[in-house]
Amino acid sequence: MILTTKQFSVFSGLLSILAVASALPLEQRDDFVPPVTFPHAGTVWFVGQRHNVTWDTSNAPKQITNRQGKIVLAKGGLLDNGMPHPLATGFDILLGRTEVTVPNVTPGSDYTIVLFGNSGNDSPEFTISK
Ligand SMILES: *[C@@H]1O[C@H](CO)[C@@H](O)[C@H](O)[C@H]1NC(C)=O
Repeated sequence: MILTTKQFSVFSGLLSILAVASALPLEQRDDFVPPVTFPHAGTVWFVGQRHNVTWDTSNAPKQITNRQGKIVLAKGGLLDNGMPHPLATGFDILLGRTEVTVPNVTPGSDYTIVLFGNSGNDSPEFTISK
């Protein structure tokens, strides 16, 4: 079965909630799913450009078990279809932005960025062009 990123996010979100719920006492639950604010619907990126992916950290919990973020590119809602990834890794999820280079991929208007901290969160679809 192939999962879309939405399904994958929900699935991994549920898994991490279950994992956190079973591993930690109530007050330490810290699932953090910051909404991606850039790229957004209507964004066009060109291969080779550098961009800041940005996300909203205003709802960050006080304690976050894993602050190491990871950004991957998905196409057509699919994470695992030969995309070069991750685009960025090992950055602090609380920074709210990290720079990525647009990889040399087939142009398309069904790309999404998926931001992983404790859980996955994907951007709206945007375009990559040459
Ligand atoms: C990303 O944001 C930082 C901080 O605002 C800025 O200094 C940097 O130039 C930006 N990078 C790009 C590629 O726009």
